[in-house]
Amino acid sequence: MSEYWENVKNTAVKWVEEAGRMLKDSLHDSLDIQTKSNPNDLVTEMDYKVERYLTERIEQNFPGHKTIGEEEAGRNIASTEGVLWIIDPIDGTTNFVHQKYNFAISVAVVENGHGKVGIVYNVMQDEWFTAVDGRGAYLNDKKLPETCGPVSLPEAVIGLNGRWLARETRSDEASLHHMVRRSRSVRSYGTAAIELAFVACGRLDSYISFRLSPWDYAAGLVLLKETGITVTTFQGDSPSMLQQNTILAARPALHEELTSYLYNHKGFTY
Ligand code: IPD
Ligand code: CA
Ligand code: CA
Repeated sequence: MSEYWENVKNTAVKWVEEAGRMLKDSLHDSLDIQTKSNPNDLVTEMDYKVERYLTERIEQNFPGHKTIGEEEAGRNIASTEGVLWIIDPIDGTTNFVHQKYNFAISVAVVENGHGKVGIVYNVMQDEWFTAVDGRGAYLNDKKLPETCGPVSLPEAVIGLNGRWLARETRSDEASLHHMVRRSRSVRSYGTAAIELAFVACGRLDSYISFRLSPWDYAAGLVLLKETGITVTTFQGDSPSMLQQNTILAARPALHEELTSYLYNHKGFTY
């Protein structure tokens, strides 16, 4: 059966490669940029174009499969039964618009709620993070090792959106400020899919987010499972494939340490 998912992954990689070319080509043109839920939530015509391109290919080649995409696809899907593709056509749209750098196409294939294939394509760096359930995770052609040995907070570099720090009002020992001060350093790349892939390959020791959607992390979850990294909500639950969640990814001992700082943080919004 894992041969089947390997073939699905190879097929999807070809489509994502073409979609990546579309994104690179579009950087020479002027973009139609609009806002969604708030003035900082951007969408371009390329988000729609890439999502439609991938959705059409999935429908033509895998007629029994369902698709959820950030922009349009699968609005009425309420169950993870069967095979579900979860797509973020551009993760890091703000980077795509402002920097033309540090954005990804994220594609996951999930069967009955279990991640089977994960692809995070870091477009401008031409880096492929791919994984098939039970077959390991890869950065380009190199198999990523399973994480070994614990890392403690004072040695850890953590991916975190700095906006959350600005929102925090508490000052006790379990506060985010306290956690950040205890860490070696923090980084903020503006693309959850790439930040999760960076945890899988060891460039980050942890990634934390107060609110993400399944298309931001579904592919990353497959990569992280194959590299022995723990990913849960702040409350320790498995992230939903249909609803928004908090996300804490880190190797097991660090995950436990970080949970104590995050467990009681709820209800932050942008
Ligand atoms: C966003 C990025 C960002 C994260 C946001 C996401 P988008 O995705 O992953 O890093 O902090 O929560 O919405 O909108 O660029 O696809
Ligand atoms: Ca996203
Ligand atoms: Ca997006």
